[in-house]
Amino acid sequence: MKILHICLIVLLLQQHQQLSRAKRLMDMDATGGASMEERIVGGQTAEVGYAKYQVSLQPVLGFHNCGGAILNERWIITAGHCVVNFPPEFIVVVTGTNRYAEPGGVYYTEEVHVHCMYDKPYMHNDIALVKVSENITFNELTQPIPLPVGPLREGDEVVLTGWGSKVPNGEANPNLQKVSMNFVKLEECLEIFNQTDNMGVGHICTFSKEGEGGCHGDSGGPLVCNGYLVGVVNWGRPCAKGFPDVQANVYYYFDWIRNVISGNARCTT
Ligand SMILES: *[C@@H]1O[C@H](CO)[C@@H](O)[C@H](O)[C@H]1NC(C)=O
Ligand SMILES: *[C@@H]1O[C@H](CO)[C@@H](O)[C@H](O)[C@H]1NC(C)=O
Repeated sequence: MKILHICLIVLLLQQHQQLSRAKRLMDMDATGGASMEERIVGGQTAEVGYAKYQVSLQPVLGFHNCGGAILNERWIITAGHCVVNFPPEFIVVVTGTNRYAEPGGVYYTEEVHVHCMYDKPYMHNDIALVKVSENITFNELTQPIPLPVGPLREGDEVVLTGWGSKVPNGEANPNLQKVSMNFVKLEECLEIFNQTDNMGVGHICTFSKEGEGGCHGDSGGPLVCNGYLVGVVNWGRPCAKGFPDVQANVYYYFDWIRNVISGNARCTT
């Protein structure tokens, strides 16, 4: 029984990696990319307590899979592709730490709400909410992050944090990384990506400079501007090659988030 359990976990992990990677690969192939590097490039190790809202989503405790952020005592926000193929028991939420393998807190998932239009159209609405089964204990290393009160503006600086790995099957970075980037207007970003159908008003783009800045960061991970959660990592081109990263626009999904959290999971925007 125990062996079966482990096999199932390994199978799930492999399946998920293939699925989430396939998604990114398809996009990259379409635009001619080849590299699979998936970490914050040119970032720095974050100070302890730097991103108190940051969580690590782990299918099994000790295996980092995706990032996420704490919205309140019971709710985590992440990318849809981070949770869509996982039963709730394989979404363990680790809080309050810069080292994902050394949890400050561990919480188990009670409900998963992937956006009802996830991947419709392809690559769009890649956002999800996870409800944990007990209140998250807030402390000096664990705090929620507020939703944005307005859209990002040109010139806004954002910070991305994550444990993203360097290679597809590689180890996640044991220490949380951070990188600063600038907001890129959607029209500009669409132009850079040759008007790809994979991008729309539900996305925001951020960019640092070639050779530095956001890679895919860490799928599902938080992008923060002035203390507000503005983005959730969605997709990107091979990293630090001079293309913006694309994240879910949290402000755009504000109503959906509020509705789900208040128990009214209607499909809006
Ligand atoms: C959980 O947090 C909510 C919001 O602060 C609070 O109303 C509730 O009493 C808490 N529940 C428990 C069991 O602590
Ligand atoms: C957009 O098209 C140009 C010209 O074909 C190409 O050089 C560029 O790499 C493309 N952009 C992306 C993001 O693929």
